[in-house]
Amino acid sequence: MGFSIYLSCLLALLFALVIYVCYVAVIAPRSNPLRELPGPPSTKLIDNHHMYLTMDAGISRKTHERFVKEYGRSVHIRGPLPWDDRLLTLDPVSLDHILKNSTIYEKPWYSRDLIESLIGCGMLAAEGQVHKRQRRVGTPAFSIQNLRALVPLVFSKGVKMREKWSSMLADGKGQKLDVCDWMSRATFDVIGSAGFDYELNAIDNGDNELLKAYKEMFEVGISQSGSTLRMMLFLYFPPLRRFIRDHRTRTVERCKAVIHRVAGQLIQDKKKKILEAEMEGKIYEGRDLLTLLLKSNQSVDILPEQRISDEDMLNNINTFMFAGSDTTSLALTWTLLLLAMYPAHQTTLRNEVLNVLPSASLDSLTEEEVQSLYAIIADLPFLDKVCRETLRLIPPLHSSIRAATQDDVVPTSSPMKFKQPDGTVREEMRSVRVPKGSAVHIAVEAFNLDKELWGPDAWAFVPDRWDNLPEAVTSIPGLYSNILTFSAGPRSCIGLRFSIIEMKSFLFILLSNFTFATTDEKVAKANVVLTRPYVLGKHSAGSQCPLLVTPYVPAASA
Ligand code: HEM
Ligand SMILES: *[C@@H]1O[C@H](CO)[C@@H](O)[C@H](O)[C@H]1NC(C)=O
Ligand SMILES: *[C@@H]1O[C@H](CO)[C@@H](O)[C@H](O)[C@H]1NC(C)=O
Ligand SMILES: *[C@@H]1O[C@H](CO)[C@@H](O)[C@H](O)[C@H]1NC(C)=O
Repeated sequence: MGFSIYLSCLLALLFALVIYVCYVAVIAPRSNPLRELPGPPSTKLIDNHHMYLTMDAGISRKTHERFVKEYGRSVHIRGPLPWDDRLLTLDPVSLDHILKNSTIYEKPWYSRDLIESLIGCGMLAAEGQVHKRQRRVGTPAFSIQNLRALVPLVFSKGVKMREKWSSMLADGKGQKLDVCDWMSRATFDVIGSAGFDYELNAIDNGDNELLKAYKEMFEVGISQSGSTLRMMLFLYFPPLRRFIRDHRTRTVERCKAVIHRVAGQLIQDKKKKILEAEMEGKIYEGRDLLTLLLKSNQSVDILPEQRISDEDMLNNINTFMFAGSDTTSLALTWTLLLLAMYPAHQTTLRNEVLNVLPSASLDSLTEEEVQSLYAIIADLPFLDKVCRETLRLIPPLHSSIRAATQDDVVPTSSPMKFKQPDGTVREEMRSVRVPKGSAVHIAVEAFNLDKELWGPDAWAFVPDRWDNLPEAVTSIPGLYSNILTFSAGPRSCIGLRFSIIEMKSFLFILLSNFTFATTDEKVAKANVVLTRPYVLGKHSAGSQCPLLVTPYVPAASA
């Protein structure tokens, strides 16, 4: 008797649950206003096709061009699951509204959760007040003045890599080098020393515990091995991670423990040094981001409730390691590849660089001399154009995503296109209603490569385009040069200046001593969190960019 009551209660509960799931998954999405927008069809229940069309590096630019022609600039696409309706906007006015309204459009919980599970809730993952506080404490550390002070440090790493290459190529002949690996090592060393005042020794291939922990953790975080189903389950149902413990979760935990111990100790040591200096009535002179963050946290400008904890400090250092190393190393890798593919541009750049190369060797310069040399480098016009053009053509972060935290109406600047049953196209000009919870796909690459904005040669590497940009380009709300590479608005990249210093310094040093040529191995792009190089046919060998690197010997002047 009692048992059957339990059973009917259980059945009733189960029934209610089924109804609820049906409602959330099937009924509610039907009334999602995004479904009124034009867009590519989708038939399957679990369907990754739209993600593939918009995110596969080999086809995404063709996809976006076709979408604009067929559907206009506000397109309805679908995530992998049937209720995951998304707005893909290719409209600069909508983009501006979304990126600047960062309280309405936050990073969706599943991507924040993924970032947080690796590097903690630092500036990249946090939202709302927590983010505001972290950004507030972090911003002074990235001021022009502070970053200038880091230039000698960046330079010393570039010179170190040059020495390493020079000894490897001592016979004067060229060698095939994986520049992707080398740039990655160099940027790790830069961010280690500029971030923590800590030598990771990646250029030396040093056996460093902290370096290994970071590398391994980031690799696990981005690795796409493992099934899509597992990835989706973990992404959409994070509690599962606590129950399903496999090789990956264990690796991440082990790495985190190392980082917590070693980097945590660095934070304590640094605090002590600052305090000791203070007690002696001196000012601790550290230039690294950690010192600057700690000082910023103590500054009188910051209200008590805006200060950040030790834990947050570590999360932010992790975040700089994560957001600042691979991105910049990929930007450098793509620049070297493009210069290898366009030897005439490489020669122009080398001549420009050699023109201002001091006669004294770079490692003999004082810090002041390096600073004033960098002031000249920063203003070299062709170097500047090459950096902008690479960052435009191959943005390391191909796309991003936001989710609406409330219902919103997004303004547009161009009409939607609806295909009628009779084959004709009806155009309709209106704004887009984005309901709470729906995602917006931020197509970084699409805006950088839009032929209607940049002109018919938008997909080509043309550094000189920067001498004379089309007016239409100014409608893109980019943080840097009207390209979306560093995003825009309150959540745009805080490390922009840092990465430009790094790119220009390294290119200066490398171009003055080496030439770069393509090899018989064809390099193609693939999006694995970031846009990475792979050798065609050797995808399983992992990301690499082999180039023929030869010491440059200036022609003897007569
Ligand atoms: C070429 C190099 C770089 C590129 C292309 C790049 C690009 C970006 C982009 C697109 C975002 C926005 C992410 C999103 O909305 O999903 C971002 C955010 C961020 N970047 Fe960078 N980045 C670069 C270098 C750096 C460096 C060197 C650092 C630090 C040293 C850094 C630190 C950050 C941080 C902390 C954020 C989060 C900012 C926030 O949400 O308030 N980045 N970056
Ligand atoms: C933010 O969104 C609100 C409401 O949609 C709008 O009125 C406002 O203009 C937007 N702000 C920006 C900077 O786009
Ligand atoms: C930041 O300042 C607050 C208040 O002085 C302090 O409690 C906190 O420990 C500081 N954070 C770090 C990482 O030093
Ligand atoms: C780099 O190039 C400069 C100028 O051509 C030359 O003086 C210097 O010896 C080179 N250094 C190395 C390590 O190859």
